Amino acid sequence: MTVKPIRKAVFPVAGLGTRFLPATKAIPKEMLPIVDRPLIQYAVDEAIEAGIEQMIFVTGRGKSTIEDHFDSAYELEHTMRSRDKDLSILDGTRLKPGNCAYVRQQEPLGLGHAIWCARDIIGDEPFAVFLPDEFMHGETGCMKQMVSAYEEKGGNLLSVLEIEKEKVSSYGVIDPGNSEGVLTEVRGLVEKPAIEDAPSNLIISGRYILQPDVMRTLENQEAGSGGEIQLTDAMAKMIGNQAFHAVTFDGNRFDCGSKAGYLEANFALAMEREDLADDVREFIKKYI
Ligand code: G1P
Repeated sequence: MTVKPIRKAVFPVAGLGTRFLPATKAIPKEMLPIVDRPLIQYAVDEAIEAGIEQMIFVTGRGKSTIEDHFDSAYELEHTMRSRDKDLSILDGTRLKPGNCAYVRQQEPLGLGHAIWCARDIIGDEPFAVFLPDEFMHGETGCMKQMVSAYEEKGGNLLSVLEIEKEKVSSYGVIDPGNSEGVLTEVRGLVEKPAIEDAPSNLIISGRYILQPDVMRTLENQEAGSGGEIQLTDAMAKMIGNQAFHAVTFDGNRFDCGSKAGYLEANFALAMEREDLADDVREFIKKYI
């Protein structure tokens, strides 16, 4: 199938991060580190791995350290060079000019509204969305797996995962149709349903490939769950007119919007590091 390539990605990063206060009073939650890389860096790395060229950050007040992180840092690089330090540690943080764009969401009106703020930069191309709180970690990145599915099916894709039914009300939930390998048809979508109304226990886990038509739908989208403009509601309206599939990610997901998930991600990644695993294994014995 010939499809338009996915060249652009939107990272909605305007949220206030109240669940991590006071840590997030003066720094964005997306800049909290997992071991020694900020959370947002993992999402950008995942996008680059999937062949995405342009990163569009939907930011807000107090988020300028994200821009600094992906900029060149003249003094730092100059000093490191003069001391013969290896600069490759900074690879991936220096996005080329023109490969990143920043747009502000001025009011917290919801995820759908945040995505809509990027409409002019997206134009008439399909694009990816990454919710950086959802840390997807696998041998092959989640978006790369989704792009492979997209090349086969086209249209719109969501990453999904199965959770306990009691937790569905915190997420967008899919109404699944036929399944074939990792792909499942999406027949319907609901944002944060009551447990008894949930069509399944398959939740949207923070990665999307969307056709640009969603921007037109978002334009007139009324407020939904939580009084916010929901991306899920706009996507639901497109089902039937365009292909919609869910991809089950082959890898681990850490919910870094929660403290326990964030700590688990730190632990899991530290255990994968040759320079840390032994020390971590040693000290962890004291606590269990
Ligand atoms: C958002 C989406 C929801 C998705 C979730 C994943 O919700 O609206 O559909 O399942 O992210 O984390 P939020 O966590 O912003 O309330």
